[in-house]
Amino acid sequence: MIRTYSQAAVEEFAEQCYVPVINGLTDMYHPCQVMADLFTVIEHKQDYRNLKYCWIGDGNNMANSWINAAAIFGFELRVATPAGYEPNAEVIARAEKAGAKLLLTNDPKQAAAGADVLNTDVWASMGQEAEQKEREKAFAGFQLNRELVELSNPGSIVLHCLPAHRGDEVTDGVADHPRSRIFDEAENRMHVQKAIMATLMGNR
Ligand code: NVA
Repeated sequence: MIRTYSQAAVEEFAEQCYVPVINGLTDMYHPCQVMADLFTVIEHKQDYRNLKYCWIGDGNNMANSWINAAAIFGFELRVATPAGYEPNAEVIARAEKAGAKLLLTNDPKQAAAGADVLNTDVWASMGQEAEQKEREKAFAGFQLNRELVELSNPGSIVLHCLPAHRGDEVTDGVADHPRSRIFDEAENRMHVQKAIMATLMGNR
């Protein structure tokens, strides 16, 4: 398992390896987190496939992996980012070619309206700390707050991969909302990562 910045480094390592290599996080993708998130959805909403998902904020590694998940599982995903912070263009193009139901917008309300799962992440990911101030300006208006939760479907749930910057991308009111599942989600990281390893080791 490699947790690093460069996706190319992980791919090169995997090419040279005789055993499976798990992407523990790169600048480009964070698949293990999305698997834990989907498991959390299954726990709380039973069927994860026929739901509407929204992503509010940065078009980062998490957003890219959610787009991959939308292409694989066929659920509807709306992604609202500020202009200039969209997810990776190649990831979007590949997902759309595979028939993914994607809505890409700069309007968080459009993404949240009627959503069953609301999801966000920090505005500055690991390695982008120097951009924090500039990003706070660009992402103003892309905070997951009560107004957006109220636009979502009754029974919707809120996810965040943590750690959160409360008051930036998510308010206290939403992180601690009765519909928030962020701590179940954090717990599920452990269980789902064990499942990934067990599966890759042939379920021994
Ligand atoms: N986008 C975040 C995810 C952290 C779990 C980062 O890469 O820092």
